Amino acid sequence: MNIVVLGAGAIGSLFGALLSKKNNVMLIGRAPHVNAIRKGSLKIEGKTQFNKKVPIMLSVNDIKNPPDLLIITVKSYDTEDALKKARKIIGSNTTILSFQNGLDNIDEIGKIVDRKQTIAGVTTHGSIFPEPGLIRHTGKGKTVFGELDGKKTERIKNIVNIFNEAGIETTISKNIVKEIWIKAIVNSSINPLTTIFQCKNGYLLENPILEKIVEKVCEESTNIANAEGLNLSFEDMFQKTREVIEDTSENYSSMLQSFKKGKKTEIESINGKIIDIGKIRGVDTLMNSILAYLVNFMAD
Ligand code: PAF
Repeated sequence: MNIVVLGAGAIGSLFGALLSKKNNVMLIGRAPHVNAIRKGSLKIEGKTQFNKKVPIMLSVNDIKNPPDLLIITVKSYDTEDALKKARKIIGSNTTILSFQNGLDNIDEIGKIVDRKQTIAGVTTHGSIFPEPGLIRHTGKGKTVFGELDGKKTERIKNIVNIFNEAGIETTISKNIVKEIWIKAIVNSSINPLTTIFQCKNGYLLENPILEKIVEKVCEESTNIANAEGLNLSFEDMFQKTREVIEDTSENYSSMLQSFKKGKKTEIESINGKIIDIGKIRGVDTLMNSILAYLVNFMAD
């Protein structure tokens, strides 16, 4: 399969590298990463060991034919811009796979590409980007994909097979929108707090006050999701959030990593979007508002 990965960050490079074993993969990344891989190779260390010169470019401009699969792993705030630039290589048979944090990506993609061409995925793999050319796979996780309408189509089966053949354990979800919400609720409860307190994920359960805040944010985000028509139990969501914190206790969240690098964070696509929906639905948004305010204040 011809695959382009738009956004060769930590997760894009990891999946791109694994998929490149059996597919034609082209990564699109930033200059330091592109230069490091071209001069040497793409190295993956940790749970996956990999060292190969994977094809990588700065932009899609030199790609001649539309890929079968365009994997979007850019930060959520870059989705629209990245897709506008990639539009020239999107053919009528190209499937767009969004693999991003946040609740606004599908709508952003829908501004540029027919929704029918889009599928979405959620992963619990942990990976970090210590330096250009090097990715550390910090935790093996699970990946789910789904058609936006929940159907088990041939294309989703095919793409799931390709991921499994690459060693990325993947299943099909009949409700990917729910999976995206679950991830957003977990992220809303973990990422801003770790950014404000500059701590590893695990510290959120070591400090009783922070644990209580996690619980309160998780409850509020779940209430907002349910007002939007999801049917999630707060107990399950809090249990899930605790499990993710335990499984990733040694990790720095993606939001804290962005903050430390002086980059924009995904606060608006995660807590910001939850606040927007809460306000429309008339549900309390205090906890999410406080966290979003503090993260934005720190970033200014
Ligand atoms: O965004 C992240 O960092 C991750 O989704 C998670 C699960 C919070 C682990 O760090």
